[in-house]
Amino acid sequence: MSMSRAPERYSKPAVFFHWVVVVLIALAYLAIEIRGPKGTDSRTFWTAIHFWAGTLVLSLAVLRLVWRLWAGAPADVPGAPVLKFLARVVHLALYVFIFAQPLLGILMVNTGGHPVTLAWLNLNVTLVGADAIARPLLKTAHVWIGNAFYWVIGLHALAAIGHHVIFQDKTLRRMI
Ligand code: HEM
Ligand code: HEM
Repeated sequence: MSMSRAPERYSKPAVFFHWVVVVLIALAYLAIEIRGPKGTDSRTFWTAIHFWAGTLVLSLAVLRLVWRLWAGAPADVPGAPVLKFLARVVHLALYVFIFAQPLLGILMVNTGGHPVTLAWLNLNVTLVGADAIARPLLKTAHVWIGNAFYWVIGLHALAAIGHHVIFQDKTLRRMI
């Protein structure tokens, strides 16, 4: 039992950030999977959705991290130390992911010599200029990490469901 006065559950803003980011990440994955072949309207539309969803993830990640450092998190749910450790590692990886993945995407597009155009708003984002050497590395990293995180996110979601269904503790309920 901890002596700290940590709250029982995640705060309303923390819950909001968590689930909005989940939806936007699902949308980014969906969009890139169904975009279709080069030169089609479908590709243009779904690529625009991918850029929008990913850029919003990055923006929310900044606010989310500030809120997390300010408000903290509830005390650990009682359980095996090895599972607590695993949860910490996975949560840290997920925090890194919501910054790194969209940043890699933006840098990949920019080093290809294009601004990231946020369609409908006509907002152009250019963080760096063209770079023929960096571009393929950034692309490899973005595609590789994107595919690897299907597994990390899946593990994290399975753990949450496992807590709820098997351990029947409040892990999932306190994030809702
Ligand atoms: C959390 C946010 C993001 C996730 C989860 C994500 C995920 C992915 C995945 C999995 C792929 C590769 C699909 C494949 O070929 O196997 C991909 C491709 C791509 N992503 Fe993202 N992405 C995100 C954000 C962004 C952002 C913000 C941008 C740029 C503004 C971006 C630009 C691209 C582009 C241009 C491709 C296509 C690469 C190519 O095939 O030439 N992504 N993304
Ligand atoms: C799409 C990807 C997801 C990302 C990036 C993500 C990210 C995170 C992060 C960073 C935390 C730690 C929160 C903190 O302490 O500040 C967290 C906690 C949590 N997530 Fe996710 N998550 C995702 C998907 C999911 C899904 C699909 C579920 C449920 C099935 C879920 C359930 C939970 C729960 C229950 C917690 C609280 C764990 C605890 O109390 O220690 N997450 N998530």
